[in-house]
Amino acid sequence: MGKLRLAVLISGRGSNLQALITACAQADFPAEIALVISNKAAAPGLQLATAAGIATRVFDHTAYASRSDFDRHITRAMEEIGTELVCLAGFMRLLSDEFCDHWRDRMINIHPSLLPAFKGLDVQQAALDAGVRFAGCTVHYVRKEMDTGPILVQAVVPIGPDDTADSLAQRILAEEHRIYPLAVRLIADGRVSIKDERAVISGHEAPTGQLINPPAGA
Ligand code: GAR
Repeated sequence: MGKLRLAVLISGRGSNLQALITACAQADFPAEIALVISNKAAAPGLQLATAAGIATRVFDHTAYASRSDFDRHITRAMEEIGTELVCLAGFMRLLSDEFCDHWRDRMINIHPSLLPAFKGLDVQQAALDAGVRFAGCTVHYVRKEMDTGPILVQAVVPIGPDDTADSLAQRILAEEHRIYPLAVRLIADGRVSIKDERAVISGHEAPTGQLINPPAGA
């Protein structure tokens, strides 16, 4: 069977893109990156793609008359190369309703919080300010409202008393790099369906055990 064809959309560093590149380099991984798109010509992630021999395109959003116009050009580029799944990986542009409708159930995003808590930007600081004991990251299908949509995979990171937004972001990022390839694999293996706006994974077994923070008895 052919591999699922991905387009990855970035705006910056590209560490999640790199995690996907590394996963796709494994012979048995069921997906391949056909195209990397950035809205910023200077995004360091573009060089990661080029180094891996992956085609890149830049669509500078400031060069388009409207958000819809920008989105239409990106859609055309992704359709030209037969994109089956769009992966947003630090793509820092809001998407038009038409774009979200067009790629509905064929577009996923990674976000550095345990959604639906802490949408938007600076979410690690928001978690610290709220005093929660756990943070984490989420891969979800994309819907029109920012950082909403059926949740596919989450990873949890305990927060300690000395954590800063930076230290927390680093530990969350390490988990992002695990769960994004996992989410793509689940989809590529045909194990995911959307029912009543929830992502159902065939053969899904939850891990056993629990995390308590601070640890019980401490
Ligand atoms: C990641 O932490 C990703 O979760 C976040 O931007 C960072 C991109 O890093 N995305 C969002 O906040 C989207 N709402 P990367 O360019 O190294 O992958």
